[in-house]
Amino acid sequence: MDVFLDLFGRFHPLLVHLPIGFLVLGIMMLFYSRNDRSALHHLRFSFFWGSLSTLLALLTGFIQYQREGFEWENVQAHFITGLLCAIIAFSLYYVLKKVAFPWNPIIKILSVTLLLLLIITGHLGGNLTHGNGHLTDPLPEVLKERLGLTPQLNKVEFNLDDFANQPLYSQVIQPLFDAKCVSCHNPSKNKGELVLSNYKMLVQGGKNGAVLAASQGDKSTLVDRIFLPLSEKKHMPPKAKIQLTEEEKELISLWIKSGASPTQVISSYSIDERLFRGFFPENKTGIYPDLELVPLSQDVLTPLLEKRLLVTPLYKGSPLILVSCVNFSDFTDDDLIAFESIKEHLVALDLGKTKVTDISFGTLATFPNLTTLTLDHTKITGSGIEKLKSLPNLKRINLSNSSFDIEHLSSLFEFSQLEQVHLYPIDQNENIRALIPDSLQSLFNLGTYEITIKERDTVNY
Ligand code: HEC
Repeated sequence: MDVFLDLFGRFHPLLVHLPIGFLVLGIMMLFYSRNDRSALHHLRFSFFWGSLSTLLALLTGFIQYQREGFEWENVQAHFITGLLCAIIAFSLYYVLKKVAFPWNPIIKILSVTLLLLLIITGHLGGNLTHGNGHLTDPLPEVLKERLGLTPQLNKVEFNLDDFANQPLYSQVIQPLFDAKCVSCHNPSKNKGELVLSNYKMLVQGGKNGAVLAASQGDKSTLVDRIFLPLSEKKHMPPKAKIQLTEEEKELISLWIKSGASPTQVISSYSIDERLFRGFFPENKTGIYPDLELVPLSQDVLTPLLEKRLLVTPLYKGSPLILVSCVNFSDFTDDDLIAFESIKEHLVALDLGKTKVTDISFGTLATFPNLTTLTLDHTKITGSGIEKLKSLPNLKRINLSNSSFDIEHLSSLFEFSQLEQVHLYPIDQNENIRALIPDSLQSLFNLGTYEITIKERDTVNY
């Protein structure tokens, strides 16, 4: 019975051409013969066999969906339009049976709708067998880009709060296969006879049998394939395709080696958290606060630009702005007043090589979102720098080559958000490291450590 059903299902791609033939011919005859009563007989014939073969197509299609691992999500539109075709084809046959003159409004509407539905159903079916882009793939790249058809890789991202309680398979592994393998390993394009679109098919394996370790002891063909060098022909995904990252390979391998469970939750695996880093959405603003502000109008920015200040948004469309005085070396403490109108939006300020002094700390302390402050090559000694302590976002201060006096160093120890302070060159005779509490050592770049060159820094890509 199973063999028979499988075989029957496989006839679907062949059988679908019958309704297309009968029904399109019927519609053409209808438009050709209009109110010619002698055509009724042939019209009924066409729509009778058209409706019956549509049913047959539906039935074989449904069997194929059931038996060959298609996902309902992917076939549902095709199935529903096919079902509508059958309903309308039968209705047309029924109406034609009853009327004496075929050219009436109901028949016109039904036949045009049927023609459209046939085209749509056929196209959706084509997408299933040949892949989504089978009509658009041959178009030139430029045109595809214009139409927004360049393939977008689904990014695997998950809920930060609850991810540890989710199954590793459904949260991470299957989405990775979906993003990087399923374009070739799906029910209609099963390269290597391997389908990776759902757990059931995954367990079945490919033309050389199982691919998971669960059924092959410790050795998994799938893990072998993804770790092969890129140059090897058997490497997966093939060289020209978007590759798995090192972390993604580790996660897949770990999942398979732990038994490839479909339900085991993430927290029970003891996975190094770093492997998940790439899955969390990146904060677009980076180290800067993610603020919802109305972008500054040109009226506010123009006076600043006229002063030769460099004003740039953090990224295109961001309300946050970065200001640099590189072209304005005569900038003094008084000029800081110019930033009053933008103080909410100002997140990075470069006052390097200007004429500012310690007096500026009072004004700087009123810029609530200031995150990076550059004061290199200035006369700043650090007197009053503790006023900046109240800035909730201040993360980086550059005081290199300034007149910074080490006696003010301890003021910086109380800044809660500070991540980096550049402070060099400094008098090598003073043992400044000894003045800094252990917990804050990594904050201070005193320019005295050796930069270790990692091997990968020297690789030429
Ligand atoms: C561009 C198409 C393509 C993509 C994308 C792709 N593969 Fe393949 N894969 C193939 C082809 C073709 C074969 C059969 C030839 C061969 O064995 O190398 C195959 C074979 C395999 C096999 C061996 C099946 C067997 O039983 O012999 C495994 C395992 C496999 N792929 C895993 C993957 C994994 C995992 C990914 C995603 C990380 C992936 N593939 C992505 C094209 C692809």
